[in-house]
Amino acid sequence: MYDRGEILTVEERRNILQFIYADGFMCSSITGNRADFKFDVTTKVPGEVWKIKQRIIRREGLYEYSSYSYLGDRITFIFPGGYIPPHTDKNELDGMIHVRFNVFIQTPEDCDTWYDGIRVDVRERGYVLCRSGIDRHWTGVNKTRVPRIAISYGFTIPAEKVAALYIYPPGEETFYRRAIWIRYLATTYRNIYNMLLFTITQQNPYAMYDAKVSFRKMLQDSLEQFYQSNDR
Ligand SMILES: [Fe+2]
Repeated sequence: MYDRGEILTVEERRNILQFIYADGFMCSSITGNRADFKFDVTTKVPGEVWKIKQRIIRREGLYEYSSYSYLGDRITFIFPGGYIPPHTDKNELDGMIHVRFNVFIQTPEDCDTWYDGIRVDVRERGYVLCRSGIDRHWTGVNKTRVPRIAISYGFTIPAEKVAALYIYPPGEETFYRRAIWIRYLATTYRNIYNMLLFTITQQNPYAMYDAKVSFRKMLQDSLEQFYQSNDR
């Protein structure tokens, strides 16, 4: 499932476009009718750009995964006459897949986007999952007069997680996420209980547990002796 739904508000989109069309904006690389503006934490970009990334991380459950990608994060432009030829990006690390989340700022008609032979419905203010290390991906020629503009965020993610991303829509995988929460809550409650017990009794809760066990054992032994003496 490539389409991940809407991610940008109208205002956020406008602010990003203002940044792009402002005087002094310059791309880091220009090849033919395509250009890229590569950015990281040292680059001046509107706050929205990072807000969107955080939103994606939250919706897709990517907290524990690396937001590193050798291609980095970038704003990509396909100008009139330009296109992305079919290609698959490299997976840099063993067992890890290079994945990109592409957020669409401007999507001219007649500039189709294709992932693994499937035409992806890209919509302005929406975002898509691109398994760029697995799927062959490309676009048709931009036959319009407006550039196609997208923000592309790169991640390096284990293959199992990529499989889950492809199966579930964003915000789901509820069973897996609940299991993590239950485990977290259980550990927290146990720790709080032990801390309280320690504060009240000034005793190591585990030492108390040991004491309980040995008390039961003593009781058991004495009971056994009692029965044995009755048998006789
Ligand atoms: Fe690519």
